[in-house]
Amino acid sequence: ILEVITSEEAGFCFGVERAIDMVLEAAGQNKDTPVYTLGPLIHNPQVVEKLEKKNVKVASSLSEIESGIIIIRSHGVAPEIMEKARAKGLKIIDATCPFVKNAQKYARQLVDEGYQTFIYGDKDHPEVKGIYGSTDKQAIIIKDKEDLDRDDLSNKVGFVAQTTKSPESFRDIISYIITEVKELKVYNTICNTTDVRQSSAKKLAEEVDIMFVIGGRNSANTTRLAEICSATGTPTYHIETANEIDRTWLKGKNKVGITAGASTPDWLIREVIQLMNEENKETKVEKEENEIVEE
Ligand code: F3S
Repeated sequence: ILEVITSEEAGFCFGVERAIDMVLEAAGQNKDTPVYTLGPLIHNPQVVEKLEKKNVKVASSLSEIESGIIIIRSHGVAPEIMEKARAKGLKIIDATCPFVKNAQKYARQLVDEGYQTFIYGDKDHPEVKGIYGSTDKQAIIIKDKEDLDRDDLSNKVGFVAQTTKSPESFRDIISYIITEVKELKVYNTICNTTDVRQSSAKKLAEEVDIMFVIGGRNSANTTRLAEICSATGTPTYHIETANEIDRTWLKGKNKVGITAGASTPDWLIREVIQLMNEENKETKVEKEENEIVEE
């Protein structure tokens, strides 16, 4: 019989859950108005598909939208995009995660106060593009410590980070720079959801015989979780749905661990748990049949 343990932190984070609720409410209340999200709401194909059935369409840019409601996803966007949407007469529902909003606000503030402002993050990530846009493209985006050029540093330096960066790497950059400049102002904009989720997944992976990490293959945080679990040496499978599970993987295993990315809905997690319960039922029936035969 398999023992199934789900990680304490698995599935939707606060910001994603809030964004989904806002989208569903908008779709429910505006049955005759087209509702769009600017880019897929989250990196989970199953959720995006469900939303499409509820008439929520994905637009990759504003030029694809003529009229209706536009939902800004949890990653946020640059103020310039909000202005363009307003100018087009679209109704905006801003589902930017409040933690991302903070990062945008602090970056803007640092620029306004005359700090040479750095954003520690991935320049191609929509969240970072939004933070950068909030500074009127005056901030400098750095991917890692190596991108910092000592000679170009001003005396007053300000820092914010992409919300999903690891605290260790941020600490590393900050401790490096502190002795290089006269004044340093840092806003710790890291959201600890990612960190807490990663450590609880790692702890669980160390305890079990097999790990399932559920979430979109296009979800960076899910992929990272799978890497962390796999690094413990426990066989780890990154799956999007329960259908992908090959039951032979479970042979000889006693403890199954389950975790999921921040963009994975509860129902996808439940489906995997249910499959494990079915597996247990079948094993039980087989065992009972064998016992009857032996008697
Ligand atoms: Fe917000 Fe943190 Fe999620 S920044 S979108 S709660 S990972």
